[in-house]
Amino acid sequence: MGVVGHLEAGNGMLALCASPALTLHLWPSVEWRYTAENSKRTQRGNGYGRPPNCKQMVKPYYEEDGIVIYNADCREVLPQLAPVDLVVTDPPYGCGKAEWDSSFPTEWYVEAKRLAPTTCVITGSAGLPDSIKLVGADFLDVIAARNLNGMTRGPLGFGNWLAAVVAGTKPPQGINCFDFTVNGEMPAHPSPKPLRYMQKLLARMLPKGGSLIDPFMGSGTTLRAAKDLGLKAIGIELEKRYCEIAVQRLRQQVLQFA
Ligand SMILES: C[S@@+](CC[C@H](N)C(=O)[O-])C[C@H]1O[C@@H](n2cnc3c(N)ncnc32)[C@H](O)[C@@H]1O
Repeated sequence: MGVVGHLEAGNGMLALCASPALTLHLWPSVEWRYTAENSKRTQRGNGYGRPPNCKQMVKPYYEEDGIVIYNADCREVLPQLAPVDLVVTDPPYGCGKAEWDSSFPTEWYVEAKRLAPTTCVITGSAGLPDSIKLVGADFLDVIAARNLNGMTRGPLGFGNWLAAVVAGTKPPQGINCFDFTVNGEMPAHPSPKPLRYMQKLLARMLPKGGSLIDPFMGSGTTLRAAKDLGLKAIGIELEKRYCEIAVQRLRQQVLQFA
């Protein structure tokens, strides 16, 4: 996650040299994103001392112990973030569960590929075809997880598994299936993922100290699991009420993960 390239003064402004794209990102406080394109414009001068396409970074809604939440649209925030080890998310699937669930978003995946070597898209059976199509030739495998004490509705009736479509660079060798149990936790969100599931998935994908981004954070299950495992994490969520729930979950005592 080191910064490459260097900055030099020019026409009273900072201009980027040596690197096609540079995000000034001192984990996790980000100020401006410079690209080669922006740099050229800056050198020409725009009269404002700032590259015209450099938007001011959205301020974090929450930031503590290596966990950061942005209450914003992920399409706005992702281009301004620095690389991490994993992008892992449970996006809307266009199932009509809520206002935000009218379609399956795809734009975020280009940024996910820029940000991390590996992406994990979490889905039930209904979203599996879209998820596999989204990652296309990057597809590696599906990590299947069986829920031992719960059922959800699926196209064939009730179902008891979740899939994580894994794309990009191979994570460390290991199994592609596990069992989990639901502990009765019910955050006020229409489709939270079980905490135990997220803990097991993240433990499978990342070593302790690893870093991740969840662009569709919802009630913050990914971030809570990341905290339990000693990972760094950034979550992005459009709705403030879900960010608030995530903050409350993060402030609960860290759970032991065995
Ligand atoms: C399926 S839910 C994620 C649930 C989450 N895994 C959990 O355990 O709570 C998807 C979330 O994405 C959010 N969302 C939808 N579009 C978004 C966008 N463009 N940027 C950020 N968040 C978005 C929705 O508000 C919703 O909370």
